[in-house]
Amino acid sequence: MKVLVTGGAGYIGSHTVRLLRERGYEVVVLDSLEYGHRAAIGDTPLIQGDTADGALLRRIFQEQGTQAVIHFAAYKAAGESMEQPGRYFENNVCGSLALLRAMQAANVRFIVFSSSCAVYGTPAQLPVGEDHPLHPESPYGESKRMVEQMLHWFDICHGLRYASLRYFNAAGAWPDASMGEDWRITLNLIPLVMKAALGVIPRVQVFGTDYPTPDGTAIRDYIHVLDLADAHVRALEYIVREDRSAIFNLGTGQGSSVQEVIDMARRVSGVDIPVEYTARRKGDPVAIYADNRKARQLLGWQPQYGLEEIIRHAWQWHSTHPHGYAD
Ligand code: WQD
Repeated sequence: MKVLVTGGAGYIGSHTVRLLRERGYEVVVLDSLEYGHRAAIGDTPLIQGDTADGALLRRIFQEQGTQAVIHFAAYKAAGESMEQPGRYFENNVCGSLALLRAMQAANVRFIVFSSSCAVYGTPAQLPVGEDHPLHPESPYGESKRMVEQMLHWFDICHGLRYASLRYFNAAGAWPDASMGEDWRITLNLIPLVMKAALGVIPRVQVFGTDYPTPDGTAIRDYIHVLDLADAHVRALEYIVREDRSAIFNLGTGQGSSVQEVIDMARRVSGVDIPVEYTARRKGDPVAIYADNRKARQLLGWQPQYGLEEIIRHAWQWHSTHPHGYAD
């Protein structure tokens, strides 16, 4: 089967492209390269362009004969989306709509969509299951919910089958350090801890030490990027095999605190990473972690990596690629 991967030169996209090819899929990547990197996808065919470009998409479907889409292309910084909501709705929602319309016109019926735990907002109960009410707290999270709703109606009206994958906190790198996250554009905890360990920034700030958690710092569910990639391939196979749409939470189900992340990074790197304890960050929930039973049951998915491997692989990547892909 030939698969179009939008945003395939980005962080999770590029890991998924590699795994798809290892598992025998033919892949073509569509990426604007605004944030993605050519070097992240090796010799995989790349079309440089935008998912909002309907004419380009129609041409790709006609010429490439792709039968399914994995759709990563989107902006992903929740904080930034509070300052630039229009930019997020335009890229994430309008881009996805153009893609869905082109798929429908070309009769491409299967799509795996990058959603996010950001659709839940602050959870009312833990762990968070897929049926937890959706209360996004940023335009970013809202844009993911809006696309999920479009997918729902394209399923009902046009027979489109989708898997919407709600990631928790993606982290880590390919285990042999041959690919990873380009940290120049990330504000997430683990890459920032790596930067502090390498002395690229003077210290990592801990946002909040007075949360009602065992060590006072906030709790998240960190999931290895390769486990996410594996879930994409399994989700694609599921919707094709079952001819049915589904939504899945992708997390380990295990929460880790900010302090635990820093302690693990100190152990793994051997560096006494400098830390500054500061006030809570606005809008941060105290704790969120996944109920991942649905993905385990229906996809046969089982996260292979825990916090230690996530941090070890991130450290191996960042310490050997201090300038990312440098392209
Ligand atoms: C993790 C924890 C911070 C930076 C984001 C998106 C969300 C989803 C997952 C994609 C929090 C703390 C962080 C720092 C810190 N993304 N922290 N110092 O906020 O859980 O979620 O990624 O779909 O939509 O918002 O991720 O990595 O920013 O923070 O103490 O310098 O680390 O307060 O508790 P977050 P994060």
